[in-house]
Amino acid sequence: MLFDFIRTNFVKTLLTNKDNMDKFIIEGGNKLKGRVHISGAKNGALALMPATILAPGTYHQKNTPNLRDVWTMSRLLSSMGIFCELNENDLFIDSSGISSFEAPYDHVKKMRASFYVLGPLVARFGEARVSLPGGCAWGPRPVDLHLKGLEKLGAEVTLEGGYVQAKAKRLIGAKIHLDVSSVGATGNILMAATLAEGSTLISNAALEPEITALARMLVKMGAKINGIGTNLLEIEGVGELHPVDEENIPDRIEAATFLIAAAMTKGTVELENVNPYHLTSVLTKLEETGCKLDVNGNNILLEMEDEPLPVDLTTAVYPGIPTDIQAQWLAYMLLANGTIKITDNIYQDRFKHVPELQRLGASIEIIENIAIVNGAKRLSGATVMSSDLRASASLILAGLVTEGKTEVLRIYHIDRGYENIESKLTKLGASIHRVKTELF
Ligand code: EPU
Repeated sequence: MLFDFIRTNFVKTLLTNKDNMDKFIIEGGNKLKGRVHISGAKNGALALMPATILAPGTYHQKNTPNLRDVWTMSRLLSSMGIFCELNENDLFIDSSGISSFEAPYDHVKKMRASFYVLGPLVARFGEARVSLPGGCAWGPRPVDLHLKGLEKLGAEVTLEGGYVQAKAKRLIGAKIHLDVSSVGATGNILMAATLAEGSTLISNAALEPEITALARMLVKMGAKINGIGTNLLEIEGVGELHPVDEENIPDRIEAATFLIAAAMTKGTVELENVNPYHLTSVLTKLEETGCKLDVNGNNILLEMEDEPLPVDLTTAVYPGIPTDIQAQWLAYMLLANGTIKITDNIYQDRFKHVPELQRLGASIEIIENIAIVNGAKRLSGATVMSSDLRASASLILAGLVTEGKTEVLRIYHIDRGYENIESKLTKLGASIHRVKTELF
């Protein structure tokens, strides 16, 4: 009933293919003050959505962020015959009518998380054809662990014409050790193993909260999974799963980005709808820089009065510091008086924001996977270019504290992963304006 109502009553424009080259104009110098509601996790939604392939029927996924990557996943699922409708933050999916087992290059090249459909498709239909994602803006991001895992589960995996083709009558449980604790490979193999015959053990599985959220949804769907929240997942395959309604977790990276923005502007900001537990490592680091934090249920209040103390940062798998806040931390440390070492151990080359921050006056040197920041240099407004999602976030943060006007180009990258970032920042007192230029 609800689905029929939604189908007939909401005509959405967000699933169109419109591209844009919008830019932000930011006047630096305003302190951020007030409350901000944190959206549902982008990377949570991108894992929960393909899980609907595993069982036909209707799903309601609450707290789904209304952003470009979710639209891209919706389009991909729609191209396979799955009905997707995003009404504000309520995502309705009907996976009863899957008619294609293919993820074309057009979708996958836009978003690597498209690769998530591979595991569930082979598990349920015995076949899948998914384009290889290729490189990403900051370097190679292989999918070998996803493929090895599926092969271990008995799938016949071949590569042809840039596509991965996987086939299996029925997947068979196996012991799979991930040489690197990969979020995507864990998610893909976990989804596949739920419908395999017999038991599967995934060791060195990713512990990221988005994977735990996926595992919890799968259990609700009827999957048998032990060890959720640990790096050893034990899955006993079942014959079939059933659809469920689920609530997505809050976005810990968006939360961290707003906390850093508040600290940079010496502001006072309260985040609502967060899971402070997911942010433990980040909150500790923020305290080391001199921020005062008050955690109250699902809210976090941050107050900052001075320039930050210099604090080194090294990214690691959860519960370590996420690589997805490395760029924002780097922008933060531009304000600290000292030399700061920022090491990315997850992605060795994820420093595309550095040359752009240098255009604003930052002094940063890159040695392999380490950025060395000489902080407290004068930053003055300039035109800078976004290269990827988190790089764009770091440029916006820098713009908030830069003297004069900063123009951030190619902000479609930020639209991939932050819901209404400019209206949230404006509500907190920032001067940030979107200049629209639409290309069709
Ligand atoms: N890796 C391999 N082989 C594989 C897969 C991964 O060697 O088959 C390596 C990667 O090269 C990397 C490490 O494993 O060095 C971790 O990569 P992972 O597979 O965990 O990353 P992912 O699943 O592709 C997710 C997030 C990223 C986030 C990383 C790390 C989603 C949709 N994406 O990517 O999010 O940076 O985990 O935490 O969940 C972002 O939101 O901006 C973003 C890039």
